[in-house]
Amino acid sequence: EKGGYDYFMLKEIAEQPQAIAETLLGRLTEQGEIRLDEVRLTDQDLRDVDKIFIVACGTSFHTGMVAKYAIEHWTRIPCEVELASEFRYRDPVLDRSTLVVTISQSGETMDTLMALRHAKDQKARVLAICNTNGSTIPRESDAVLYTHGGPEIAVASTKAFLTQLVACYLIGLHLAQVRGIKYADEVGAVVAQLQEMPDKLRTLLDRMGPVRELARDLASSNTVLFIGRHVGYPVALEGALKLKELAYMHAEGFAAGELKHGPIALIDQGTPVVCVVPSPAGRGMLHDKIVSNIQEVRARGARTIVIAEDGDEAVLPYADHLISVPRTPTLLAPLVTTVPLQVLACEIAAARGHDVDQPRNLAKSVTVE
Ligand code: F6R
Repeated sequence: EKGGYDYFMLKEIAEQPQAIAETLLGRLTEQGEIRLDEVRLTDQDLRDVDKIFIVACGTSFHTGMVAKYAIEHWTRIPCEVELASEFRYRDPVLDRSTLVVTISQSGETMDTLMALRHAKDQKARVLAICNTNGSTIPRESDAVLYTHGGPEIAVASTKAFLTQLVACYLIGLHLAQVRGIKYADEVGAVVAQLQEMPDKLRTLLDRMGPVRELARDLASSNTVLFIGRHVGYPVALEGALKLKELAYMHAEGFAAGELKHGPIALIDQGTPVVCVVPSPAGRGMLHDKIVSNIQEVRARGARTIVIAEDGDEAVLPYADHLISVPRTPTLLAPLVTTVPLQVLACEIAAARGHDVDQPRNLAKSVTVE
């Protein structure tokens, strides 16, 4: 049932192009519109939204962090992201015009469920993004968008993460269209880019050989650090989480701009630092800023593992290892930049002799508090 793969995790990583295609299926019209018929919130409900809270745990929380950048850019609605285990114990300001989006692969995570009840008590509308039909969280929500990723067996979340991202992009674009705001004219272009993602991911998955080799090389490290900016920041956090949970290795993700406020002191001769680089074609100074961060860590002895877009020559002089990913617009880039980090964690764990699909101390569905 592992379909020829050594682990469910590798099988699920390989299924990502198809999983994304399934999540997009039937939700995009040829006119470049997003149709979320199954989300039972009226267009008027969506126009009334004046604040969004995204609540989730673990990898699903990282999805929420990425979603914030996209949703605020496309819709101009203020959007906060919070760990469900924090949100549920505080007194967030919510009312009828607040949309609370829960993200949960399993639909059974206790903290996320309790956060949803907390939101409903205060009359907020709740939209669930979920991969498991008929599970508790979507049943108790006002609306649900299923990710259609298919069952995820490995404890570490991979295809669920990518399909959750796609679901969040769809929600952001749909909100922008319904509200007719300025960025609505970007929607058609983004829809076309989303449709290209399954093919891009297939190309990317065919290139993972060198990542496997690198993994064997890194398996004896004591620590691996990850840095990123903008949507590359949650990708860095996700890369570190995967490595902790699978390889039982110390790993940390940082917003690259925070390095000089403390973490750069961790860097020693040979410390591996994975750098998630945004597209040079993207907005603002992001790309230049991270290139200088890579120079900074390298000057302090780091061994740099650089994840950058095809054709990005500016990073070449500072990359001890280069992992190239297909060109992708900034906001959608986590769909590609995360994949090598999944493979890296899986292969490092395997090289260290661990049970990749069933890491110690972890359960697939966290139904306790
Ligand atoms: C990490 C992982 C966990 C889950 C978290 C939330 O690989 O799988 O961090 O993402 O336990 O689970 P769901 O999405 O089912 O609520």
